Amino acid sequence: MRAARVPHSTLGPKFKMIRVSKIIIGSGFAVVLILITIVSIRTLSLDVNAGLQLAHWEKASNISLDIDHHKREELIAHFKEAIRIPTVSFSSTEINTTALLRFNLLLQRAFPTVFSSSLVHHELVANYSHLFWVPGSQPNLMPYLMLAHIDVVPASESDGWVAPPFSAQEIDGFIYGRGTIDDKGSLMGILQALEYLLIKGYAPRRGFYIGLGHDEEISGYKGAMNIVRLLQQRDVQLSFVLDEGLAVLDGVISGLNGPAALIGVSEKGSATVKLSVSAPPGHASMPPRESSIGILAAAIKRLEENPMPRLFGHGPERATFEHLAHKFRYPMKFILSNLWLFSPLVGRFLEQKPDSNALVRTTTAITIFNAGVKTNVIPSLAEAYVNLRIHSAQSLQEVLDLIRYTVGDHRVNIELIEGFDPLPVSSSDETSYGFQIIKKTVLDMFPTVVVAPGVCVGNTDSRHFKALTTDIYRFIPLWFKPGDAKRFHGINERISTKNYEELILFYSRLIQNCDIQKLPEPHTSLHEL
Ligand SMILES: *[C@@H]1O[C@H](CO)[C@@H](O)[C@H](O)[C@H]1NC(C)=O
Ligand SMILES: *[C@@H]1O[C@H](CO)[C@@H](O)[C@H](O)[C@H]1NC(C)=O
Ligand SMILES: *[C@@H]1O[C@H](CO)[C@@H](O)[C@H](O)[C@H]1NC(C)=O
Ligand SMILES: [Zn+2]
Repeated sequence: MRAARVPHSTLGPKFKMIRVSKIIIGSGFAVVLILITIVSIRTLSLDVNAGLQLAHWEKASNISLDIDHHKREELIAHFKEAIRIPTVSFSSTEINTTALLRFNLLLQRAFPTVFSSSLVHHELVANYSHLFWVPGSQPNLMPYLMLAHIDVVPASESDGWVAPPFSAQEIDGFIYGRGTIDDKGSLMGILQALEYLLIKGYAPRRGFYIGLGHDEEISGYKGAMNIVRLLQQRDVQLSFVLDEGLAVLDGVISGLNGPAALIGVSEKGSATVKLSVSAPPGHASMPPRESSIGILAAAIKRLEENPMPRLFGHGPERATFEHLAHKFRYPMKFILSNLWLFSPLVGRFLEQKPDSNALVRTTTAITIFNAGVKTNVIPSLAEAYVNLRIHSAQSLQEVLDLIRYTVGDHRVNIELIEGFDPLPVSSSDETSYGFQIIKKTVLDMFPTVVVAPGVCVGNTDSRHFKALTTDIYRFIPLWFKPGDAKRFHGINERISTKNYEELILFYSRLIQNCDIQKLPEPHTSLHEL
């Protein structure tokens, strides 16, 4: 068995799962009956629990933005202007500073009230990033922070866009362009909401920050990290951070009835590892038995053939399925309500496809392979880069140990280029202020959507904020239908004008919902009876 080659420490949970299933298979009829009974009770209790809603919410202000024809034209025009400025981060050293300066000017022009109101303090950070502070009338309420980013990944029309990627052309109710979903929709939506609220005379009770980074796509080392530094110097603690990440999935999860809003409570970790093999160079007429290329290729092949262990059910992805279980039909409803028993089975199912496999384990992607300079020379050096995204139940160190073990060849030099652990898991229970506020805001706007915690398989600027808060959420109410995920960093990125307007309304409601002093008392669920 391949798994037997793997050190025990990393495989602990997996071995436990195997043991559980052996016990079940090996036991008699009585045990099976008891199991079925427990399983049925759990399915029932989850059903009931899911139907419970938090009640008795303190009244928050309910200022309507009154978006009429005129405002609609104005907000769409501002948004299109934002898309047309090519704020591209080309590489870790190459950003378009001309575009970023133009973007600064656009923000000031599009949101004059935000920039002139005595309620709003604005500062530029690292020349192109922004930090806004809107103090609340009740300084005892802990502030929160909304985060978005200005930069976008490159896009080329020749890749097959239906409209040029920086044209913001509108086709059949959709605005096309790089940045429409990542992340200018959220960025412009937050500021547009604040602009309209201020015009309506709104003043918050709970203070909040808005952070706009300019280099998120190249890790946020200048933007987000300097914003964090400023807040730390001022001893700011945040009740929560809301950033981009997950969305409203509509018809994307097969078997699920109705749309699901997934709120990211964690992000996978990441590692870039360089593998290299050095060998004496020589002439191709007298080759050694093994070349640097052959040794490295074999090591890479072993990494591909021995994926990292299946860990489904040991991270926050488990809570996602438990929350959604009641929206599935039998037998999926039954299976997902009883992951304590079925998670190995569900993990095997999910690992079949690359997108769901990413939820199941630390993924291993071979991204660069370089060797050789001349057709008749034995190369002295072969090197490859491996990009791993680390499951919440593993650490960076465990992953590095496993790579060494799987490669199992001392001639292969293994070097960590860059990496970090999975992010801590933010709270999502009934006493979690940030999660419940976001959830309530989603339900205020879309009452039929089911809300669940989720895991981001990619990374965001919000990961730099973990010293300022324990609760970081990654969510924008973007409606994702089947195929839309491919538009993210891909071709034909787009948002409907209706959805963009919904973003503005969402942030406007969120800001007002945050004005409550505290959450209502949680209901007692059947679990506690
Ligand atoms: C806000 O007011 C509108 C009517 O103007 C109403 O339809 C809506 O339900 C209210 N929302 C909340 C959360 O109070
Ligand atoms: C940078 O942005 C400027 C101003 O928006 C634009 O004219 C220029 O083409 C951009 N440069 C590149 C290399 O994309
Ligand atoms: C900000 O701009 C100034 C002047 O152009 C430059 O010297 C400085 O390095 C910039 N700072 C950052 C963080 O980019
Ligand atoms: Zn982004």
